[in-house]
Amino acid sequence: MKLLDLVRRSVTPAPWDEGDNIPWNDPDFSERMLKEHLSQKHDAASRRMEKIEEQVDWIHHKVLLGRPTKILDLGCGPGLYASRLARRGHTCVGIDYSPASIAYAADCAGQENLRCTYLHQDIRQAEYGAGFGLVMLIYGELNVFRPDDAKSILDKASRALAGDGLLLLEPHTFAVVQKIGEQLPAWYSAESGLFSEGPHLCLKENFWDPSSSTATIRYFIVDASTGEVTRHAQSFQAYTDAQYRSLLTECGFEDVEIFPSLLGIEDATQQSLMAIVARKRDKTT
Ligand SMILES: C[S@@+](CC[C@H](N)C(=O)[O-])C[C@H]1O[C@@H](n2cnc3c(N)ncnc32)[C@H](O)[C@@H]1O
Repeated sequence: MKLLDLVRRSVTPAPWDEGDNIPWNDPDFSERMLKEHLSQKHDAASRRMEKIEEQVDWIHHKVLLGRPTKILDLGCGPGLYASRLARRGHTCVGIDYSPASIAYAADCAGQENLRCTYLHQDIRQAEYGAGFGLVMLIYGELNVFRPDDAKSILDKASRALAGDGLLLLEPHTFAVVQKIGEQLPAWYSAESGLFSEGPHLCLKENFWDPSSSTATIRYFIVDASTGEVTRHAQSFQAYTDAQYRSLLTECGFEDVEIFPSLLGIEDATQQSLMAIVARKRDKTT
């Protein structure tokens, strides 16, 4: 894109029309993003290790009741949850389409001989396998999928679970998705950053579409030396608690329980997210 295309862009983007997500799966971007996942200065991409340890403890003790379980972690990133769950005696499969994250996760598992297998695949197309006791999709990622893709991921998760297997989701609350969409435009300049190795401007604009309950963020990355503009877009579907419950029922789950956070209780540092645990529906009842 040229700067003039930016000036003449459509006023309001249709959700998901200008891109599925930020480019997690681009090799260079994924290398830069890996540094953000591992940074202990902030909770972008992945949370800091101390919080992850606490959340893994809740999953291990309260969700899995300490029983060794075969776990599928969808969008596992650098395996920060899967590796910790494996250290607590579980067997994990992680799927992610970020090449740098999957390479890092596999390397850590190899060094410690952990029972973790990592697959570099898009969870929309991947085959999940079968016989899992837990399938998890955390850190708000469910909301970034188009509703049809979210449904298909949850359908596949249900088929991948063993008879009484559990699903663990950590989606955004409705209010937070709306807030994302209602944020005012913002920009920053950087010599180097997540979206580009070289000097650039990042211009960001957000939209809330009340008719479809979706938020969209557009990022325009302006290369400071050439003026070339790269556009990325990311949309989020908002769901009410009732909509999460009916989506899960539609996808073959029952006993849907909603928790205020991935610690099972209020967590003042994680108020944009909630945790949902659901059981695969028993076909005999
Ligand atoms: C916010 S990060 C969370 C990573 C990890 N769950 C954590 O909490 O540390 C979201 C992850 O989802 C992955 N992701 C997003 N869309 C995906 C897709 N369609 N297929 C596979 N992975 C995807 C990204 O590459 C990224 O690693």
